[in-house]
Amino acid sequence: MRQYTKLNLPLFRFPIDIFAPAILLLVLSVATSPLAAVSQNSTDSRPWMHRSLTPEQRADLLLHAMTLDEKITMVHGVDPRPIQGYVGFVPGNSRLGIPALRLADGRAGVGNGAKDVTLLPAPITAASSWDTNLLHKFGEVLGNEEWRKGTNVALAPSIDVVRVPEWGRTFESYGEDPYFNGQMAIAEIQGIQSQGPIADANMYLTMNQENNRFKEDSIVDRRTLHEIYLPPFEAAIEEGHVGTVMCAYVKTNGSYSCENPYLLTTLLRKQLDFHGWVMSDWGATHSTVASAKAGLDQEMPGAKYYGAPLQAAIASGQVSTSTLDEHVRRILVPIFRFGLFDREQIGTWNSYVRTPEHAAFSLHAAEQGTVLLKNTDKILPLSDGESIAVIGAAGGAKPKASGGGSSGMIAPYVITPVDGIRKRAAGRAQVSYADGSDPAKAAEIAKAAKVAIVFVNTDDSEGRDRPNLELPDHQDELVEAVAAANPNTIVVLNTGGPVLMPWVDKISGLIEAWYPGQEDGTAIAAILYGDVNPSGKLPLTFPRTASEIPTSTAAQWPGVNGRSTYSEKLDVGYRWYDAHHVQPLFPFGYGLSYTSFKLSDLRVTPAKITGMDTKTNVQVDLQVKNTGKREGAEVIQVYVEQPERNGEPPRQLRAFTKVDLKAGQSQSVRLNLNPRALSIYDPDLHTWKMPSGEYKILVGTSSRDLPLQRDVEVTDHRMHN
Ligand code: BGC
Repeated sequence: MRQYTKLNLPLFRFPIDIFAPAILLLVLSVATSPLAAVSQNSTDSRPWMHRSLTPEQRADLLLHAMTLDEKITMVHGVDPRPIQGYVGFVPGNSRLGIPALRLADGRAGVGNGAKDVTLLPAPITAASSWDTNLLHKFGEVLGNEEWRKGTNVALAPSIDVVRVPEWGRTFESYGEDPYFNGQMAIAEIQGIQSQGPIADANMYLTMNQENNRFKEDSIVDRRTLHEIYLPPFEAAIEEGHVGTVMCAYVKTNGSYSCENPYLLTTLLRKQLDFHGWVMSDWGATHSTVASAKAGLDQEMPGAKYYGAPLQAAIASGQVSTSTLDEHVRRILVPIFRFGLFDREQIGTWNSYVRTPEHAAFSLHAAEQGTVLLKNTDKILPLSDGESIAVIGAAGGAKPKASGGGSSGMIAPYVITPVDGIRKRAAGRAQVSYADGSDPAKAAEIAKAAKVAIVFVNTDDSEGRDRPNLELPDHQDELVEAVAAANPNTIVVLNTGGPVLMPWVDKISGLIEAWYPGQEDGTAIAAILYGDVNPSGKLPLTFPRTASEIPTSTAAQWPGVNGRSTYSEKLDVGYRWYDAHHVQPLFPFGYGLSYTSFKLSDLRVTPAKITGMDTKTNVQVDLQVKNTGKREGAEVIQVYVEQPERNGEPPRQLRAFTKVDLKAGQSQSVRLNLNPRALSIYDPDLHTWKMPSGEYKILVGTSSRDLPLQRDVEVTDHRMHN
């Protein structure tokens, strides 16, 4: 695998002696700016500027010095924004030295119309690498460009579990498994925050559809909330140490996310012990008093409820000053913790922030997230000399390299698949191209070539779910026509999530490349020719039919009378297919390689848990061997089956790791299962418990290929948090 050097925080260095006269002028000119704190660092009049104090102590000192107006200013954005770029803005305070907050979107790079930025692959692509190191680097690149654009709060990542396969924002997420999403979230958040900006875990909670998203009410039981929808946020807070959480548009059990005391106080503050601030999604605040009391700290993007109305509510005593203080404190503590008071940010919205190193990473992430789904008779990798017909949206008319909505970006360029393939094949093979608008013409060039490669896509975006799982714009007919003309047909999917493939048995090769970012064509050419051995795995299930999916009734999605009933409960994604004995088209965790692997020698210790305290892990050891002829990477996946179903899905992913092996190489692999991996949530007792009985530990390379198995016996039933 390629190596990338660690990115460094942009440091502000100034040759003081040469520029001494200019410094005085500079100090005077910035004294009135939001960055005054850094230059006018008088710790006598501003004791909160003492860096030796804790963020909490500094926030308390500052809070004490703030007027009511100054506090109110912190708990909402300013809309329209008095500054170019960004999507959210909270003015700084020059009297007290509080830095302005500049919030920007972007889950695959800096959004909001920013120029000269790197378009990374969509998060679903990065997640398909199943590589937390890659996600960390993804966060570093994103965070680095945001920071150098002047952003100090980056509105990423989106970590909701994908419940509905048609969800328009599936491409922004990591997929359908709570544990998996949590691991990806930890890595990306740490990566973003290592570069300067505060990250934002969004969208909290049950944000699982776009249709009717401003009013939709998710009806979901507490066990399901705890076992499926909450864990990614728990991981983001406990291990990712995320600074902010964005509450969502939708309602959960009758109450809007941003005024829901159970979500914002019981779960987030009391149970997860979150110390950062909660901001509303844009326009997701619906009240003043209810929101302030429930635990919303900051309204975005404007002051409709948290400006004058909050001031009035405080004057009338409906909201106490101590409640306001608590909101302000929760905003100030992370600002201190992330050094925004102490560090100057020199970039602006017009800064040129993309770099060759980031472009190389964008390519690497696209390659690593590409999933090989079918490879009949080893049609792939392509050999030199095989003529190729490239067909479909690969030529520049509309290559689908990124999704829309607030994740939309201005790409500096996109290498189209046809350009990438032509460049790679130059001097070695003939490449013809047809855009696919005329299936007869496409079939004609397919017939004349040794191999036909058809690029199909879906145009996914925030704000709309896909109406169904079919490919739009007659693309199925195009594939059928090409496959009928040439049996060596390979289909490349550029989709934001699963699609139905009625033609799948008629083609020889199938690749899910998702939305690959600016290096699209280079990445797919490298995979097709085997310069890079595919190692991606699906982070969500691809169904075989429209009816056999977990959310097939209207009551579940898009809902009836504004209510979506989560009647599938814990059976989300692959859990449902396993529970209902439904064979999906491609299961969760699935993905092929140009080499082969064998797993063996599974050992699980201890085999019996009796008096174990709640901190002890179960250790899973095994051997992995690359049994093929070329280097490749495999993802080892560990699933746990509970002793009794009791409403639990048959098995759930509880650990995974990716290993890179040379041809013939073997390696020992060790994974750990913490007590939570064996536990279920008891909604009556409000706690996690590990029921007694025989647990099965299943190990393999996809949720439906688990050849190794051992039992662990739990003899005493216990509770823990
Ligand atoms: C989206 C958020 C985004 C915000 C600001 C909302 O519509 O749901 O993800 O951060 O807009 O653009």
